Amino acid sequence: MKPKTRQYIREYKWSNILAMIKNNGRDPQFCPDGCKGKNVVITGATSGIGYTTARKFASKGANLVCVNRNPEKSERLRQEIEGEFGVSCAYKIADLSSLSDIFRVAKELAELEAPLDVIIHNAGNYLTKQELTAEGFDKVLVVHYLSSFIMNYLWQDKLKAQPQARIILVSSEGHRFAAWGLDLDDLNWARRRYTGLQSYGSAKTAQLLAMLCFEERFRDSGVTINTMHPGAVKSDTGQDNGPLYRWFKRNFFDKTLRSPEVSAEALYYLGVSKDLDGVSGKFFNLTTEEEPSPPARDREVAWQLWDTSLSMAGLKNDVEK
Ligand SMILES: NC(=O)c1ccc[n+]([C@@H]2O[C@H](COP(=O)([O-])OP(=O)(O)OC[C@H]3O[C@@H](n4cnc5c(N)ncnc54)[C@H](OP(=O)(O)O)[C@@H]3O)[C@@H](O)[C@H]2O)c1
Repeated sequence: MKPKTRQYIREYKWSNILAMIKNNGRDPQFCPDGCKGKNVVITGATSGIGYTTARKFASKGANLVCVNRNPEKSERLRQEIEGEFGVSCAYKIADLSSLSDIFRVAKELAELEAPLDVIIHNAGNYLTKQELTAEGFDKVLVVHYLSSFIMNYLWQDKLKAQPQARIILVSSEGHRFAAWGLDLDDLNWARRRYTGLQSYGSAKTAQLLAMLCFEERFRDSGVTINTMHPGAVKSDTGQDNGPLYRWFKRNFFDKTLRSPEVSAEALYYLGVSKDLDGVSGKFFNLTTEEEPSPPARDREVAWQLWDTSLSMAGLKNDVEK
């Protein structure tokens, strides 16, 4: 047994699992405040949680910059939101599994003169069969994790120059599927059997670990970064899988799920409520703080992952800057 596995087994607490089960049934906190004129970035705003969240922020006066992969859906969303709420709903088209698209859109947003007040990294996918990106990386890892890592990394200077910014990573209780932690030597599942749950759990664990590093780097600035589980809600997730999976999802899973309105309510609270002023480096189940699994709290692995991620992305480490 690897030393880290032994360490994690010692750190697991049943009370955290019981808290998660209890919190899964709770409603999110409600934020009554508006956010007129705030600029809100949402990735994957064309369906499910991202779509409902975009509508929620727009209904409270926020201007949106959405990062989506589908031009037709994006244009429909823009017309719907601008027509209904009278705010701006700009969009950038990017496939967040493509490093060149991620870098392009990250640079375009970094160059905006307007501040990025709230950033919601939401785009995600669930693949029962592995797909690799053009660069040979696990697609689930790149869409959920590496894309947000690169964007946050490239936006550091811009965000730190602002009076405040809130970054929220839409993570998942599913990070607990990566029960024995990340294998930094095999993040792309070349040497281990790929399963949808393991790949998903690892990507979400990676998000949580990156949050720890960014939280350290943003200390003493107005930037906070938090992660959240958006509830088990009905969305289009898993549509890229085969007909059997989709049939089961439609006829069984979907019937047990909540409305994505609860996710939008929670994300609005985390993005706007004064209760969250200065709160950073935390994981919320909707709006209730929880302790993530031991592998997702391991700062030593977090900084190793930081270096691995920089090298995957071809970025230079600016820690000594
Ligand atoms: N639903 C749940 O119960 C649940 C639970 C825990 C966590 N989450 C997390 O919540 C987030 C949103 O998921 P959802 O349930 O709302 O799923 P969804 O309805 O499938 O929405 C996913 C969004 O991400 C976009 N997207 C997927 N792959 C992309 C790519 N390569 N490049 C750019 N955009 C891409 C999708 O675009 P298209 O519209 O073009 O497909 C869509 O806008 C994910 O991070 C997911 O892991 C969901």
